[in-house]
Amino acid sequence: MRTETETERLEAAVKSLSAFDIGDIDVALVLGSGLKDFANQLTDTLEIPFHDIAHWPMPRVEGHGASLIVGSIGGNRIACLTGRAHLYEGWHPNDVVRPVRTLRVAGVQCFVLTNAAGGLGKSFRPGDLMVLTDHVNQTGMSPLIGPHEEILGPRFPDQSRVYDQELRACLVAADPEVRLGIYVGLLGPSYETPAEVKVLRRAGLHAVGMSTVHEAIALNAMGARIAGVSLITNLAAGIADSPLSHAEVIDTGKQVSARFTKMLMGFCEGIKR
Ligand code: HPA
Repeated sequence: MRTETETERLEAAVKSLSAFDIGDIDVALVLGSGLKDFANQLTDTLEIPFHDIAHWPMPRVEGHGASLIVGSIGGNRIACLTGRAHLYEGWHPNDVVRPVRTLRVAGVQCFVLTNAAGGLGKSFRPGDLMVLTDHVNQTGMSPLIGPHEEILGPRFPDQSRVYDQELRACLVAADPEVRLGIYVGLLGPSYETPAEVKVLRRAGLHAVGMSTVHEAIALNAMGARIAGVSLITNLAAGIADSPLSHAEVIDTGKQVSARFTKMLMGFCEGIKR
């Protein structure tokens, strides 16, 4: 039996999305671990469970939601993906990025990718927010492997400026205390060893996590404007004495969610398409 192409899957996903009247979206946000409550800020909301959209993967990690919530902030139309699927759950990179690709095919131009991450930067503290200037994909995978399909963008997309400078400036304007830095995406699901953290720090990287890079690669190839925000939930392994846990990541996310929410509210209110 012939397997479907990614183009066919995306067309089916867009078709099921079109059954809901989501209108023109100014910004789509992917909410990382412990950050899904940001969607509570939206008014006039419409909630669409992931399982109502063809071929969308169901996130299964604690701290993640599984719905697309569309609503308004300050006159702008915002779409929040309250969770994401991760490569370490066994998904193919095409599954991981299908929700954002679907929104892109449906006409969304601006995306904010958020995540929880471990701090590598010397002065980073748990609770810091970092706006991404760039990333390093150390997952060993890409959403662009496989047969070339036009809908996904060029075969060899340029990546000189994955993260949009204007969007970055809007985030910094919304919270002048944010850090700026480079995010490194690893496969996971184990946290890093202290030796791995040493290598990443020596390489000049600032935050480490298990998401985001594939969405950024896929959206950049499709010509979207992208911003990225990491919430530093812990210092990376071996920097502090204590062992790492997913519970700590979720807890810190909840504790500092007010600042995260304030920054993204400012961003969503100020953004002009
Ligand atoms: N490493 C990888 N991913 C993470 C971390 C970390 O320290 N914290 C939150 N997500």
